[in-house]
Amino acid sequence: MAESMRGLKRTHRCTEVSAANVGEVVTVMGWVQKSRNKGGIIFVDLRDRSGLIQVIFEQGEDLSRAVDAENFAKAESLRSEFVVAVVGKVEKREGNANANMKTGDIEVRATSLRILSESETPPFPIESDSKTKEELRLKYRYLDLRRPDLQEKIMMRSRVTAKIREFMTNEGFLEIETPILNKSTPEGARDYLVPSRVHPGNFYALPQSPQLFKQLLMCSGYDRYFQIAKCFRDEDLRADRQPEFTQVDMELSFVDVDDVIEVNERLLKTVFKDTIGIDVQLPIQRMTWQEAMDRFGSDKPDTRFGMELVNVSDTVAGCGFGVFTGALENGGSVRGINAKGQGEMPRKKIDALVEFAKGFGAKGLAYIAIQSDGTVKSSFAKFMTEEEMSALIKKMDGENGDLLLFAADKNKVVWDVLGNIRLEIAKQLDMIDKNQYNFLWVTEFPLLEWSEDENRFVAMHHPFTMPMEEDIEFLDTDPGRVRAKAYDIVLNGTELGGGSVRIFQNDVQEKMFEIIGLSKETAHERFGFLLNAFKYGVPPHAGLAFGLDRMVMLMAQADSIREVIAFPKVKDASCLMTECPNFVDDIQLEELGIAVVKKEDNE
Ligand code: AMO
Ligand code: AMP
Repeated sequence: MAESMRGLKRTHRCTEVSAANVGEVVTVMGWVQKSRNKGGIIFVDLRDRSGLIQVIFEQGEDLSRAVDAENFAKAESLRSEFVVAVVGKVEKREGNANANMKTGDIEVRATSLRILSESETPPFPIESDSKTKEELRLKYRYLDLRRPDLQEKIMMRSRVTAKIREFMTNEGFLEIETPILNKSTPEGARDYLVPSRVHPGNFYALPQSPQLFKQLLMCSGYDRYFQIAKCFRDEDLRADRQPEFTQVDMELSFVDVDDVIEVNERLLKTVFKDTIGIDVQLPIQRMTWQEAMDRFGSDKPDTRFGMELVNVSDTVAGCGFGVFTGALENGGSVRGINAKGQGEMPRKKIDALVEFAKGFGAKGLAYIAIQSDGTVKSSFAKFMTEEEMSALIKKMDGENGDLLLFAADKNKVVWDVLGNIRLEIAKQLDMIDKNQYNFLWVTEFPLLEWSEDENRFVAMHHPFTMPMEEDIEFLDTDPGRVRAKAYDIVLNGTELGGGSVRIFQNDVQEKMFEIIGLSKETAHERFGFLLNAFKYGVPPHAGLAFGLDRMVMLMAQADSIREVIAFPKVKDASCLMTECPNFVDDIQLEELGIAVVKKEDNE
């Protein structure tokens, strides 16, 4: 039966008790991690979010050392995860200190025990480095969240947000909330929609980001806004993507690229130093998008290791291998990477890399495996002259024992394939130093990207991004070559955040809509409030948003953002604990004027 806390007050969290308290009477409360009955003496590890402390219950006549019979009997009934309150005296552990425990040099000799709540046997052990399948842990997330390593990450997240708020406030940013129920302005990911009861057939959209509102706040004069904002995107999930996630969102007026970068570099330096003790060297390296693609095949390069791409198009032009020359004739390129010392990689593993490459759209992956004795095994040597082969190997700095891999296709495919092969090989060979934090700004993104599916240009960042002044003249003649005042901050190959200088001139904004195929009418229907706001005096402005979940994931060296979100969703965007999304009552649907059409194959 549950006892009450009446008359008791907790004096310390478990690990707040220390050798300095020896001789004092303390009251600690928490969960039973483990209880060992040694006959006449019971050892209990008591846990709260601070950690563990050992409590001992001794049986006997000498009540200066022992608990009475009633309390001892209660202690005998303790099981894992019971919630208890213990009053006792702090003692030094004589000769049996536990160096692995923060409180390992002391223990609490109990004088009384209350069982505040009992527990059924949990479906998995509450311990760090759990071996339990994630699905089961997510179903019982409230128990999973008791595990010390997960608690540490969730608490780190709280420290990170507190530090961000402190920094932003000190820098003169105002924290302003923006609405969650919004107008749908599809451009980017798919919206989550919320039906309106009052306006049957009408829908709100949940915000994909506060982008438009923060620009309006600049129009309204709230220079330097920030918000720790929930965002919602109905997109395919991955380890670093959730349907609802959190941005550290900001916007500044009367600034340009360097101003945004400067304040955000100091933000990163402060947060990383004060929460995990990592020194971020400023200024952070910058690289244009073009250089990032050419050297790493990615707009979010992991710069913790080399194996950079080499453009061999000039070297193989006119060679005998049709795959190479064909790609060049189609306006593409041929590029390679040199996996140093991998020349004797078994054929099976090379074939697996070829299959991996095909997963990224490659038609194949050509290779030259230089054996340690200098002989060459290659999938295309038969099409080449000896001179052509030596020239290619030389261009790649190929030495005995190296494996050279080549992709030939449109640039986009070649970059994607080699960028990912590079990461895959580094992972397989354990080439990445996990304790290194390599930050990088990627700048001068293309403004637009050609969408094959939609047969039109789409905005690479979003349609409110300012073109670079020197490229504006090409907006009409050659939109694909226009670069944007957009920047991403990348950490160890993950896009941590991104932003841009915004268009603030109505004519440029309308031109942008026109280029991405939005008619004047549609643009006004969707974004009329923004275009109208621009008519009444708008300051030049720019901003950025970090993915907070990703930031904490990398700080905690977690494999997925699920580990830094208290109640995350799984791959199909459902919650295994609450079982949402779910059906709703007919009466709710009726009120909303919604009829659900059941598909045949859908129960
Ligand atoms: P963007 O779309 O690049 O920019 O988003 C900013 C950052 O948010 C994080 N992020 C996500 N994190 C988890 N799950 C997701 N599904 C997800 N999608 C994005 C990423 C990303 O870098 N309004 C602009 C910012 C601006 O221009 O100021 C925006 O939303 O870390
Ligand atoms: P094939 O003549 O088609 O057998 O191709 C010879 C070699 O070239 C094989 O190793 C293929 O994997 C490789 N290959 C085919 N297409 C490409 C491509 N687009 N880029 C690089 N290698 C390719």
